[in-house]
Amino acid sequence: MASIAFVFKVLCVSFLFIFVASRPTIRPKTFNVQRHGSKPDGKTDNANVFTSIWSRACKRKSGSSKIYVPKGIFYLGGVEFVGPCKNPIEFVIDGTLLAPANPSDIKQDTWINFRYINNLSISGSGTLDGQGKQSWPLNDCHKNLNCPKLAMTMGFAFVNNSNIKDITSLNSKMGHFNFFSVHHFNITGVTITASGDSPNTDGIKMGSCSNMHISNTNIGTGDDCIAILSGTTNLDISNVKCGPGHGISVGSLGKNKDEKDVKNLTVRDVIFNGTSDGIRIKTWESSASKILVSNFVYENIQMIDVGKPINIDQKYCPHPPCEHEQKGESHVQIQDLKLKNIYGTSKNKVAMNLQCSKSFPCKNIELIDINIKSNGLENSSSIAVCENVDGSMSGKMVPQHCLN
Ligand SMILES: *[C@@H]1O[C@H](CO)[C@@H](O)[C@H](O)[C@H]1NC(C)=O
Ligand SMILES: *[C@@H]1O[C@H](CO)[C@@H](O)[C@H](O)[C@H]1NC(C)=O
Ligand SMILES: *[C@@H]1O[C@H](CO)[C@@H](O)[C@H](O)[C@H]1NC(C)=O
Ligand SMILES: *[C@@H]1O[C@H](CO)[C@@H](O)[C@H](O)[C@H]1NC(C)=O
Ligand SMILES: *[C@@H]1O[C@H](CO)[C@@H](O)[C@H](O)[C@H]1NC(C)=O
Ligand SMILES: *[C@@H]1O[C@H](CO)[C@@H](O)[C@H](O)[C@H]1NC(C)=O
Repeated sequence: MASIAFVFKVLCVSFLFIFVASRPTIRPKTFNVQRHGSKPDGKTDNANVFTSIWSRACKRKSGSSKIYVPKGIFYLGGVEFVGPCKNPIEFVIDGTLLAPANPSDIKQDTWINFRYINNLSISGSGTLDGQGKQSWPLNDCHKNLNCPKLAMTMGFAFVNNSNIKDITSLNSKMGHFNFFSVHHFNITGVTITASGDSPNTDGIKMGSCSNMHISNTNIGTGDDCIAILSGTTNLDISNVKCGPGHGISVGSLGKNKDEKDVKNLTVRDVIFNGTSDGIRIKTWESSASKILVSNFVYENIQMIDVGKPINIDQKYCPHPPCEHEQKGESHVQIQDLKLKNIYGTSKNKVAMNLQCSKSFPCKNIELIDINIKSNGLENSSSIAVCENVDGSMSGKMVPQHCLN
């Protein structure tokens, strides 16, 4: 009897062992940064500790890893988290990551940079505090060639199948989140904040990216809420609040030779509140590249006191004169744009500016139910301006359209 009971126990224990051993990929191994030597005193630079934790988590063969930043203020110099990693990695930030206030203490383009990673997930109730206030007055590169280089808050390059959830980014020095060659990436529940007069503090900036989704996100900064640059395709934006800031901006495009098409953008259920621009596409007046901007849908968009609610500007030239070898009209072709149910108020009389290229007129611009009133004092009716546009309209039309 005793031996049977013993065999039974051994069997149970082995089954338990097999059961436990077969599930290491289900529960990730947690690396709590504080238990691994980081100091939440707001002073000690934790950069080395963070990178060494990252490299252990990234190399782990036996399952996924979770790097956990508990509540507390973790001062962090510039860090780079580089893959490829063996397994998925979660980064859960419940505390505050505090950037150096002095911009020259970050010796790289981006304060926290992720490269060559698949299956990365960043989440938590915490904050990335870029401490930009001290840097903003130094941002004078338009007139000073020796201006200091200011870092972006968080960057992703060559990152796939990944996401950011819930965290807050505060007072970046330059842009908050920067994406280059990133594919299948979701951003949701994120809050991005910097004051309306802080220079170049773009919320989310991307180039050469595809299949990104941005949803339920609140962005208020001194520059573009979202900036969409060359080579971006299949981008979906929904339930975003933007303001203060410069709106959701495609471009500027066309300035450089090697630019790529921007295709398949949807922007739905977005509120622009007190922004300088809302829906914006800008291409350089004289452009080197001949590219396509196409298949865009903007739907259910509210404008609250927006400077230029709808603004296609193919004569973009912020610091004239805009000299280029291929002088003249923009060579960027804009086509297949649908604007549906766009309503609210415009600060300026021109609520809709469709200023397209003479050499490559806009094609198939579809306007459906536009109702944007001017809230200027002098005259309550808003107007539309059209140049070189071909399209169609239906439904309510305020301002009165000016299509051919
Ligand atoms: C990422 O996830 C995909 C799909 O689940 C999987 O095929 C791939 O092996 C994963 N890669 C890493 C590095 O975790
Ligand atoms: C990421 O996705 C792109 C496009 O799907 C692909 O070309 C690239 O090889 C992927 N990178 C990695 C590291 O898996
Ligand atoms: C992104 O969200 C979509 C649903 O909106 C989901 O199907 C997809 O798996 C998510 N991708 C990542 C990488 O989180
Ligand atoms: C457009 O992008 C969406 C994602 O935003 C994707 O689901 C859809 O397949 C894309 N359409 C085309 C024609 O590529
Ligand atoms: C728009 O912004 C103003 C001023 O910041 C704020 O009071 C108002 O609640 C905002 N409206 C919406 C709908 O978010
Ligand atoms: C208001 O604007 C409309 C259309 O632009 C114009 O016809 C009208 O004369 C203007 N009224 C005033 C008082 O300026």
